Amino acid sequence: MMKISPSILSCDYGKIAEELKDMERCGADYIHIDVMDGHFVPNITLGAPVVKCIRSATDLPFDVHLMISEPLKYIDDFCDAGADIITFHTECSSPVGETVDKILSRGVKASLTVKPATPAEDIFPYLDKLSMVLVMTVEPGFGGQSFMEDMMGKVAALRKEIDRRGLNCEIEVDGGINEKTIAVAAGAGADVFVSGNALFKSENRKGTVEKFKAIAAENYLKSIAKY
Ligand code: DX5
Ligand code: ZN
Repeated sequence: MMKISPSILSCDYGKIAEELKDMERCGADYIHIDVMDGHFVPNITLGAPVVKCIRSATDLPFDVHLMISEPLKYIDDFCDAGADIITFHTECSSPVGETVDKILSRGVKASLTVKPATPAEDIFPYLDKLSMVLVMTVEPGFGGQSFMEDMMGKVAALRKEIDRRGLNCEIEVDGGINEKTIAVAAGAGADVFVSGNALFKSENRKGTVEKFKAIAAENYLKSIAKY
């Protein structure tokens, strides 16, 4: 099933609870929460206390993307705040295996991601424990950037490895997703799509979610051989 995970980085933070409810109405599957510490990436967003406050606004799973230097220190906080899936970067300063195990010990789904310059193979040693992997299709830090098509080799490599091992692990792509690029990402084997600007700024959000899912389903795995 193709899933849409709206990135609240592009929502109106002044009425965030309403925005979350609106995404539920539109048929979103997850809520993508971008956590930035101003150190791992050159931008600051929000922390666990805010996640806790908005938890009651929707029943949709919280897909928390940690762009922070030391995720291990904060796993308990985000689990307590109500995260359902926690994604962190292999390039962080915390021990990766220990951080994955910490997330799992809290009964929360673990996910790993890589920046554009990092190979997908850095995720392979942990794959058996992950419910999701995230391929960044922009340099993390800001919404509204252009999709990097050259990341599709990583999506295809992960799809092949996940299928070869018979794992139940989703592949999410994040950055610059729109009607055109979602077809490309699904074609390479992605099945969860983060959308910030394209979704929150669209006039018919429900129509956009429906269209995105239809385009993704139609193109899924169609061009994996190309990569
Ligand atoms: C970038 C974030 C993304 C971003 C996506 O660092 O991880 O989640 O908000 O936004 P769009 O879809 O606008 O590229
Ligand atoms: Zn993100």
